[in-house]
Amino acid sequence: MSEFVIFNYEHPHVVNLDVREQVRDIFFESSSKKDFKNQEEKDSFLWKYLDFYLTHYSEFAWVALSKKKVLGYIIGMPLSSDPKLYEIQPHMKKFENLFSEYGAHLHINCHADARGMGVGSKLVTHFMRKLKDHHIPGVHIITGPESRNKEFYRKLGFDFECEREGMCFMGKKT
Ligand SMILES: CC(C)(COP(=O)(O)OP(=O)(O)OC[C@H]1O[C@@H](n2cnc3c(N)ncnc32)[C@H](O)[C@@H]1OP(=O)(O)O)[C@@H](O)C(=O)NCCC(=O)NCCS
Repeated sequence: MSEFVIFNYEHPHVVNLDVREQVRDIFFESSSKKDFKNQEEKDSFLWKYLDFYLTHYSEFAWVALSKKKVLGYIIGMPLSSDPKLYEIQPHMKKFENLFSEYGAHLHINCHADARGMGVGSKLVTHFMRKLKDHHIPGVHIITGPESRNKEFYRKLGFDFECEREGMCFMGKKT
């Protein structure tokens, strides 16, 4: 389980394995939102925080694979001031003035069996390296002000924090 390789979501090996189902399972299992009024609401949630990125920004989507098992994934985009994103995640606009420094953002989730083993750190480091290659100056995540996962990001060097309207923005320069 501890040995894994990071592949881009569009890598032929990943496409061949067809990992969509596994990634979706990790997404829903990791999410704090568990109740959906109907299928439409569930689909829209999936689009907003997963499929949007896989569809429009697969260049910035990676999975950590141990043989055929997905241990975790990271998705994101290099510049968050995208009107397509604002349509589905209007809260992003509230942090727009910080995008000149921390313009990229990411979402990461690991399989429940694979947490605390370094998979998440390696995925973030990989993502950061790619941003640097693209000359993107910084990245952010948005989480809850009291969320436990803030510690994970702090340990990875997300040293800028800003709270607005019940959300915590954490940034790191590449
Ligand atoms: C948060 C998450 C992506 C971290 O990935 P991971 O592979 O478990 O983390 P790592 O093993 O690389 O941990 C790196 C360090 O962060 C710490 N850490 C990881 N997750 C943590 C958490 N939720 N709370 C506090 N510390 C955490 C680890 O203890 C470790 O510390 P160490 O270097 O001192 O040993 C993963 O645990 C996960 O998917 N959690 C559930 C969903 C989630 O919270 N997603 C993020 C949404 S913003």
